[in-house]
Amino acid sequence: MSLKYIVPVMAVAGRAIAASSCSASTTTLHSQADATALSACQTFTGTVALATDAAGSIDISGVEEITGSLIGNNVTGLTTLSADNLQKIGDTFSLQACTILSGLTFPALVNVAKIDWAYLSALQELSFDQGVQMAKSVSIQTTGLTTLTGINLQEVDTMVIANNHFLNDVTMQLGNVTDHFSCQANAQNFSIAFPNLIWANQLEINNVSSIDLPSLMYVNESAYFTANYFQTLSAANLTSVGESLSFVANSDLTNVTMPLLTSITGGLTVANNTDLQKVNGFTSLKTIGGAFDFFGNFTDVELPAITEVQGAFNLQSTGDISKACDHFQSIAGSSSVIRGTFTCHYNDASAGGIGSGSTGVQNGGDGSSTTSSAAAVPMLIPGATGVLGVLLAMLGML
Ligand SMILES: *[C@@H]1O[C@H](CO)[C@@H](O)[C@H](O)[C@H]1NC(C)=O
Ligand SMILES: *[C@@H]1O[C@H](CO)[C@@H](O)[C@H](O)[C@H]1NC(C)=O
Ligand SMILES: *[C@@H]1O[C@H](CO)[C@@H](O)[C@H](O)[C@H]1NC(C)=O
Ligand SMILES: *[C@@H]1O[C@H](CO)[C@@H](O)[C@H](O)[C@H]1NC(C)=O
Ligand SMILES: *[C@@H]1O[C@H](CO)[C@@H](O)[C@H](O)[C@H]1NC(C)=O
Ligand SMILES: *[C@@H]1O[C@H](CO)[C@@H](O)[C@H](O)[C@H]1NC(C)=O
Ligand SMILES: *[C@@H]1O[C@H](CO)[C@@H](O)[C@H](O)[C@H]1NC(C)=O
Ligand SMILES: *[C@@H]1O[C@H](CO)[C@@H](O)[C@H](O)[C@H]1NC(C)=O
Ligand SMILES: *[C@@H]1O[C@H](CO)[C@@H](O)[C@H](O)[C@H]1NC(C)=O
Repeated sequence: MSLKYIVPVMAVAGRAIAASSCSASTTTLHSQADATALSACQTFTGTVALATDAAGSIDISGVEEITGSLIGNNVTGLTTLSADNLQKIGDTFSLQACTILSGLTFPALVNVAKIDWAYLSALQELSFDQGVQMAKSVSIQTTGLTTLTGINLQEVDTMVIANNHFLNDVTMQLGNVTDHFSCQANAQNFSIAFPNLIWANQLEINNVSSIDLPSLMYVNESAYFTANYFQTLSAANLTSVGESLSFVANSDLTNVTMPLLTSITGGLTVANNTDLQKVNGFTSLKTIGGAFDFFGNFTDVELPAITEVQGAFNLQSTGDISKACDHFQSIAGSSSVIRGTFTCHYNDASAGGIGSGSTGVQNGGDGSSTTSSAAAVPMLIPGATGVLGVLLAMLGML
């Protein structure tokens, strides 16, 4: 499907641009000559699009503001794009599948409503001297970028950074994320540093080697940490999570520390973090509005400040957490701290999520240890873990 853009007659017609040619719903640039024809427009009212046959270097110097979008999709012959004076793009800066684009020179650019870049494998860095400080949404996926130097937002609604296989870090001054930040499948040692982030509506952190969120106080909705490579996760200032908090399949994680976290309105999940043995960093956690779902190779699980768990409580370990099971069982019951269905298994090789195995306290080992009420319950049904267990866990969340 080829792109259809209306080519304004006057823009193509020549150099003596009347004021009116600084406005068009979309003007399409096929060549540097078309770009040069725009240079007298301080403000271009409308969208500037590169035609798929625009090739080589395109320079739109002169223009300080584009009120609409700046678009280059499938411009497979484009090598560099520059705009020395451009400060603001009112709508979207979209670059998709410009496969040999290796230079983006926008030294004055500060304000863009949306950045949407994908499939820019030859693009390794940005020449954005001022640096973009304001953007509502940023999506940077499948690029060759090794750094995001040049984008340093203070505030953003949505940011997605994914599949940039050479990108080692995202470091920004962000004070808040009003909607969503997610990252996935960037370079193997991808790190995140948001030293000033105070609140984020939602965080989805995948495949990250280190993360630094020293100022984070509130997660308004949820935070999911999945398949990361860091050993320690610390959120020293985090006080509340408005929906759910989860840590799943973080293979190297040994230490989660959230000393000021007091309330989680939704569920708390800690699952499949192979190396995580001691979970004792939730020292102030008082209330969990949803389910508590922990399974893994734990030797110690502590919630010293807990006063209320509204949903199901599931704690299952391959290790010996009999003490923890006894403790939590002693505070379980409809009028006690743990209100929902109570499950706690230790020495259980098939430790699984909510809905897997029998309820009550159970020693999943050889039966030589003493167990409490659930001793009469037969061995686990292996089929209840895996897919079924996950399904039940999902149903349990509803
Ligand atoms: C680019 O071109 C391909 C094939 O010509 C087409 O399938 C794709 O939709 C185009 N992408 C964009 C972003 O226009
Ligand atoms: C978001 O963060 C920016 C930068 O720190 C700050 O100026 C702004 O007041 C914050 N907005 C809200 C609603 O917290
Ligand atoms: C890991 O990240 C650092 C910067 O944080 C970088 O200098 C180094 O090259 C990266 N290593 C690999 C193997 O990508
Ligand atoms: C990256 O994260 C995703 C989603 O959490 C996960 O499915 C995938 O296995 C991870 N990839 C690697 C290489 O760890
Ligand atoms: C943590 O919160 C305290 C109290 O609000 C504040 O004084 C401190 O600066 C915060 N720490 C960081 C690293 O933001
Ligand atoms: C998130 O919570 C903070 C602190 O309560 C608040 O200032 C901010 O407005 C909230 N953001 C959203 C999107 O609700
Ligand atoms: C866990 O991490 C926290 C914060 O980085 C640190 O203070 C604490 O000593 C660590 N605990 C262990 C057992 O390493
Ligand atoms: C326990 O650790 C083993 C490797 O030591 C791992 O294969 C297994 O998935 C872990 N179990 C859980 C539930 O995390
Ligand atoms: C935990 O790991 C098991 C075994 O690999 C898998 O079947 C299950 O889906 C995982 N659960 C979660 C919540 O990731």
